[in-house]
Amino acid sequence: MAILKIARMGHPVLHQIAETVDDPTDPGIARLINDMIDTLQDSAGIGLAASQVHVSKRVVIFFAPESRSGEDEEESETELTIMINPVIEPLSDKTNLDWEACLSVPNLKGAVERYSHIKYSWSTPAGKREERVASGFHARAVQHECDHLDGILYPMRMTDLKLLGYAEETNRNIELLRRGHGLEDGFDPELQVAEEG
Ligand code: NI
Repeated sequence: MAILKIARMGHPVLHQIAETVDDPTDPGIARLINDMIDTLQDSAGIGLAASQVHVSKRVVIFFAPESRSGEDEEESETELTIMINPVIEPLSDKTNLDWEACLSVPNLKGAVERYSHIKYSWSTPAGKREERVASGFHARAVQHECDHLDGILYPMRMTDLKLLGYAEETNRNIELLRRGHGLEDGFDPELQVAEEG
C-alpha cells in the first residue's frame, strides 16, 4: 500500500487525455487502484482520478453517496465504486449549478453547471461492464471525476469566475453571492466544503 502524491492545478499531467486501459484485470491496475484507495482515504476527498496521482490512465474511484443520488436526502451508506474506462451519457439537457471542490485545487470551491441526469458505464477490476443511472450530487461527482480523465479541471467548466473562491471566504459571504448572482435558495453554501474530488 502507498499514499500517492496528488498533483495540483498547474501540473501538466492534469491536462493530459488519459489512456484507455486495455486489460482491467492487469495486476498493475489492481496495484494502482489499491494505492488510489489509500490516497483517497488519507484525504478529505470523495473521489480520485488516476490523473491526479500522476498516472494518465482511465481509472476513477469515488464514493457514491446514495443519500445524494436523487431527491432523497436521508442518510444512507456510501459505496466505493471503482471505474475503469468510464463513459457518461447525459439523459436530458437539464443542468444545475452547484459547488465543487477538488483535491487538485486545494482550499478553493466554485459553482459549476453540470448535467442533472446521467447514465454511466464502466469496467470493474474483474473486467465486467456495469451501468448506473444517477442524478443530483451523485451525477455531479461522476462528471467531475471523469473530466479529470479528459484533462479538465472544474474551473475550466465555469462560466462565472466570480463564483470561484476560497472556500472559507465563499462560505462567509454566501448570502451576498446568492443575491448578486440570483442563485436559488436551495443552493447549499456548505455543500462539499470538505468533500472533494
Ligand atoms: Ni477533482
